[in-house]
Amino acid sequence: MTRVLTGIQPSGALHIGNYFGAIKQMTDLQDSSDLFIFIPNYHALTSLKDGQALKNNTLDAAITLLSLGIDPNKATFYVQSDIKEVLELYWILSGYTPMGLLERAHSYKDKVAKGIAANHSLFSYPVLMAADILLYDANVVPVGKDQIQHVEITRDIAIKFNNEHGEIFTLPDFKVDENVATVPGLDGAKMSKSYGNTIDIFNDEKSLKKTVGKIITDSTPLEEPKEFSTCNVYALCKLFLDEAGQKELQQRYKQGGEGYGHFKMYLKELIWDYFKEAREKREYYLNNINEVYDILENGASKARKIAQNKMQIIRDAAGIYR
Ligand code: ADP
Ligand code: TRP
Repeated sequence: MTRVLTGIQPSGALHIGNYFGAIKQMTDLQDSSDLFIFIPNYHALTSLKDGQALKNNTLDAAITLLSLGIDPNKATFYVQSDIKEVLELYWILSGYTPMGLLERAHSYKDKVAKGIAANHSLFSYPVLMAADILLYDANVVPVGKDQIQHVEITRDIAIKFNNEHGEIFTLPDFKVDENVATVPGLDGAKMSKSYGNTIDIFNDEKSLKKTVGKIITDSTPLEEPKEFSTCNVYALCKLFLDEAGQKELQQRYKQGGEGYGHFKMYLKELIWDYFKEAREKREYYLNNINEVYDILENGASKARKIAQNKMQIIRDAAGIYR
């Protein structure tokens, strides 16, 4: 079976753009592939220096993913730092990584251009990502567009190593899901934490109502027909509706007699109902945190076995004695 591997950053509350843009695909993939999914907490160190926050975020990311349907019986689900081999591989791969390859990395250049003070980990970030991928012989790496180059760098590093030592590493392919539409935020621009226009998944009902109320619409009067195709509220409702549901809602727009307030109320209900089970699971895991640790330890021990075997082969090839 194809091994699919991806890391999901522990970066705080998830919004419905993250869910429909990334997490949902993962829950679909765990049925059809050998899915490895992990929380790259070492990577988060490049920017986060508050230790307690990082610990909390890591655990919170685990709980969130479990609540949203990552099934530890189907996928290998772990925290990056539980498998120390990845750091050894990171160093070995560094010796096969030309400076120029990293100097060309957009994500590094973009961050520097934005005035973010560069530290070494930000620069060498792609080498650790290569270690994440190559340690497990992943075939496919699903990523957002901004991460394509990192997978290409991974291939380049693997090729350098293989050229010296034979076919040690599997060359991974990236996978960008072109069918996934960009989820719009409250203002119609891409929903993103950095734009402050998100609808978070784990809101309480009152704040959800308030947030949905802020979605920007035009000012067509209540009784007049409305255009659904350009409406942010419709675009968000659509994510939760099947074809029949979409047709029905289109009809309500065309008919007139309902205001945007009604459609927003409908959207709020759709979101609230859709994530009901996830909210209940989250509540459960928050009250049974030891279960979360057990799940992560189980995942880590599955991953560790593979990592240890692979590492032995890599050490032999690179010439690390014992
Ligand atoms: P943010 O922009 O809020 O910081 P991230 O960059 O952390 O989100 O994205 C995490 C994942 O969620 C990525 O795979 C990204 O492609 C996906 N994603 C984020 N926002 C959206 C959106 N508005 N529509 C679709 N997918 C999204
Ligand atoms: N760099 C990825 C991101 O910012 C996260 C990540 C770390 C990752 N290691 C990975 C993704 C390995 C895929 C494979 O989203």
